[in-house]
Amino acid sequence: MSTRPLRIAPSILSADFSRLGDEVSAIVAGGADYIHIDVMDGHFVPNISFGAPIMKSIRGVTDKVFDVHLMIAPTDAYLADFAHAGADIITVHAEAGPHLHRSLQAIRGLGKKAGVALNPATPVSVLQHVIDNVDLVLIMSVNPGFGGQSFIPEAITKIRQAKALIGGRDIDLEVDGGVSAENAREIVDAGANVLVAGSAVYGGNDPKTYAGRIAAIRDA
Ligand code: DX5
Ligand code: ZN
Repeated sequence: MSTRPLRIAPSILSADFSRLGDEVSAIVAGGADYIHIDVMDGHFVPNISFGAPIMKSIRGVTDKVFDVHLMIAPTDAYLADFAHAGADIITVHAEAGPHLHRSLQAIRGLGKKAGVALNPATPVSVLQHVIDNVDLVLIMSVNPGFGGQSFIPEAITKIRQAKALIGGRDIDLEVDGGVSAENAREIVDAGANVLVAGSAVYGGNDPKTYAGRIAAIRDA
């Protein structure tokens, strides 16, 4: 079990985009700790979501941490855009280019927290030589690109391995994909402290349900 504070990070990918500001306000009122922002380019992943201007448009709604998950390649040319649009944490994929270390330095150079995401097939060992340049590790528990997919059970082993590599460092360990009240306990027991939840919070897009859904994950 992680000793770091548990954070619930609803993903706005599953929000009703026609009323995005209200959807963000509703999860904040419902107890969200981080706002998880999934940026997809139709190249690194087979889907397109939204970019920095949309994110900037909701920056005024809340001062909660904007946890930005960049599923784009290349990444470096866009880091400043997301930093200036209000990101607090910027996470890049280890698979997105040959110069992960440079990307992490660039994010910290912009005054933001730097994260690394690992696709399901990517070993935790890719973190070994960059771990002291990292503020967050994101273990993908689905193949990135879409909300509403099933949790890949092998992710539990990777969470344990990542937790061991992180050791006592001041690093968030986040899990993204297929997280729900049903598996949250196992994921936290393996060492994660940040749980991303898209469909488990926003499914049905009824703001009256969000607080209960967030609480169900937290209490699991
Ligand atoms: C997947 C995204 C996730 C997604 C999670 O590519 O990175 O953040 O929104 O959605 P659920 O929780 O529905 O799997
Ligand atoms: Zn994500």
